[in-house]
Amino acid sequence: MNFIPREEEFDFDEEILEQGELISDKLNMLRLEQYPPNALKGLRQFSSVEVADFLGVTQNHIKKLHLEGKGPAPDVSNSGRRSYTAQQMLELRQYLDKHGRSDFKRYVPHRRQGEALQVISVVNFKGGSGKTTTAAHLAQHLALTGHRVLAIDLDPQASLSALHGIQPELDKNPSLYEALRYDDDRKSITDVIRSTNFPGLDIVPANLELQEYEYETPLAATNKSSPEGRLFFTRISTALKEVDDRYDVVVIDCPPQLGYLTLTALTASTSVLITVHPQMLDVMSMSQFLLMLGGILQSIKGAGAAVKLKWFRYLVTRYEPIDGPQAQMVGFLQALFNKRMLKSQMVKSTAISDAGITKQTLYEVEKSQFTRSTYERAMESLNAVNSEITTLVHQAWGRK
Ligand SMILES: Nc1ncnc2c1ncn2[C@@H]1O[C@H](COP(=O)(O)OP(=O)(O)O)[C@@H](O)[C@H]1O
Ligand SMILES: [Mg+2]
Repeated sequence: MNFIPREEEFDFDEEILEQGELISDKLNMLRLEQYPPNALKGLRQFSSVEVADFLGVTQNHIKKLHLEGKGPAPDVSNSGRRSYTAQQMLELRQYLDKHGRSDFKRYVPHRRQGEALQVISVVNFKGGSGKTTTAAHLAQHLALTGHRVLAIDLDPQASLSALHGIQPELDKNPSLYEALRYDDDRKSITDVIRSTNFPGLDIVPANLELQEYEYETPLAATNKSSPEGRLFFTRISTALKEVDDRYDVVVIDCPPQLGYLTLTALTASTSVLITVHPQMLDVMSMSQFLLMLGGILQSIKGAGAAVKLKWFRYLVTRYEPIDGPQAQMVGFLQALFNKRMLKSQMVKSTAISDAGITKQTLYEVEKSQFTRSTYERAMESLNAVNSEITTLVHQAWGRK
């Protein structure tokens, strides 16, 4: 019989820490090579077709303004194509409101008297259900259509931050945790807001520190001398009050778990988007999520903090309509949830996943990088989803 030497035992914690450091060092080196540390992300220009789409005017109208020397001056290519920066698109809105016949339409859609800040949380406890992709494209679309937007990355994995050129390991960015923490080091949310490469879109980045909130909240809740922990669910809404007049819409990318971060986001929300990939395992996981969430919301209600929403919707993500079982699943969900389903779905597209590889959204990449039909199909689906959500936001304000 062969004698098999027994493996030495080792301390798991030491090994894990060592390997964590190893991989983090290597990743940092890779990132440093790819992106210099303080490189600011740029943003491409938008063609007059896109500008007309985002503003809701005709291309001719835009052309006419330019020819008459009115509004911001676009770049004009040799072949006569006009392109505008995102900032110029916002200026064009202001110009149109000031000089156009805008008695029936407002081009700058900012909140008016009596219209409350809209806070949209994107949730699901399944990773990969498209939360971050949805949150990023929604926040950017709202900004490109003239809204003042704050995106909050609440996932310690910081994917939404990364999409906006913020690298958690390199930059050591303060996260929303700084505005939520229970000790005396708490900061104002205004100290953790950063601007992005999209004019009109600010972001609160995420980092691993957010995880602290999950440990500290139950401890604070048992602290008899202070009610703060028991009232944890008001912490994000309280933080947001400080910047209420600066934004129209807040989009929160929630972590893939039903912890205190997600619950605190939900209790601050006016609306909720539940992302769902239409496959059996994902839908089964979502049904568990709904049951758990419902139970927790009821106990929060018992504690005096009922979550009241203007709307909530399921959004089908990464959808492949030619896949029979997926199409069936979408039909099933539509029959079940009916008016709670967004009418448009986010189709699966290599344009979205390829853009993601270079930490970009579809609104950032150049069309010429893709097959025209691939790009256009993805953009069409994306804009349909985002326009539907924008309509819900405007309806929540009581607009037509
Ligand atoms: N519509 C889509 N088409 C193709 N790939 C997608 C699409 N939506 C998301 N993905 C990809 O799927 C992965 C998971 O998406 P993500 O938004 O990060 O999910 P979550 O935030 O729920 O974990 C990412 O790599 C993303 O690029
Ligand atoms: Mg995510």
